[in-house]
Amino acid sequence: MRTLQQSNYEVLICADAAELARESARRFAELAEVFISDVGRFTVALSGGSTPKAMFQILAEKPFADSLLWRSIYFFWGDERCVPPDHADSNYRMANETLLSKVPVPRENIFRIPAEDEDPQRAAARYSETLRKFFAEEWPHFDLVFLGMGADGHTASLFPGTAALRVNDRAVVANYVEKFQSWRITLTADAINKARNIIFLVAGEDKAPALKEVIRGPRNSEQYPSQLIAPFYGALLWMIDEAAASLLK
Ligand code: 6PG
Repeated sequence: MRTLQQSNYEVLICADAAELARESARRFAELAEVFISDVGRFTVALSGGSTPKAMFQILAEKPFADSLLWRSIYFFWGDERCVPPDHADSNYRMANETLLSKVPVPRENIFRIPAEDEDPQRAAARYSETLRKFFAEEWPHFDLVFLGMGADGHTASLFPGTAALRVNDRAVVANYVEKFQSWRITLTADAINKARNIIFLVAGEDKAPALKEVIRGPRNSEQYPSQLIAPFYGALLWMIDEAAASLLK
């Protein structure tokens, strides 16, 4: 494992996806312990995708399953596909099956996106309201947001060229994604950037070209939406594997 320290973010390069999963689980546990001991709770927004799944599986086992104060951890999502919560594509379902149903987290600590609502705009408004009530503020301030990055440079459901990239007056939006011909519900970049910690989990050689553009390339967030992620006052950590890092000098 090696790190590249930049002025406003850190890059941690793990040997492979397995080490990335172990290390991200460790970071999650470390942050949870710090926030719970400092402020009595830990709020985290999860992402979908295959990379976090391996981390969830590790967190669902010893030592984390027994040692973490699950009752003080509050789970949210950064994005969701517009399907019912028991659908194979549901990000909630993936997290629930691999982690949440296996650890003693109270059900009332789990705030999934109601993406099964037939009206995506209403689903987004409902989730905004859920966040507003929980955080008792107009904008959420997550202690940690986990993000993935697609090979096209998208993150959460902020896809290249989509309308959600230009929304900055709301925390949650419905975003139509032409390439899937479907709606997604997603946090906006501003909502993510208000987090105290943001961790990208990126593994695999197919991500290397986009990662190079996002981190080293000129500013082009319409094409590479992950470039929109720059915390206003928190910390940004890229956790990547050697394969994804292969084009970074
Ligand atoms: C989703 C996501 C999405 C994901 C990336 C990376 O719902 O699809 O939240 O933004 O994180 O597509 O996914 P992988 O980790 O599977 O490559």
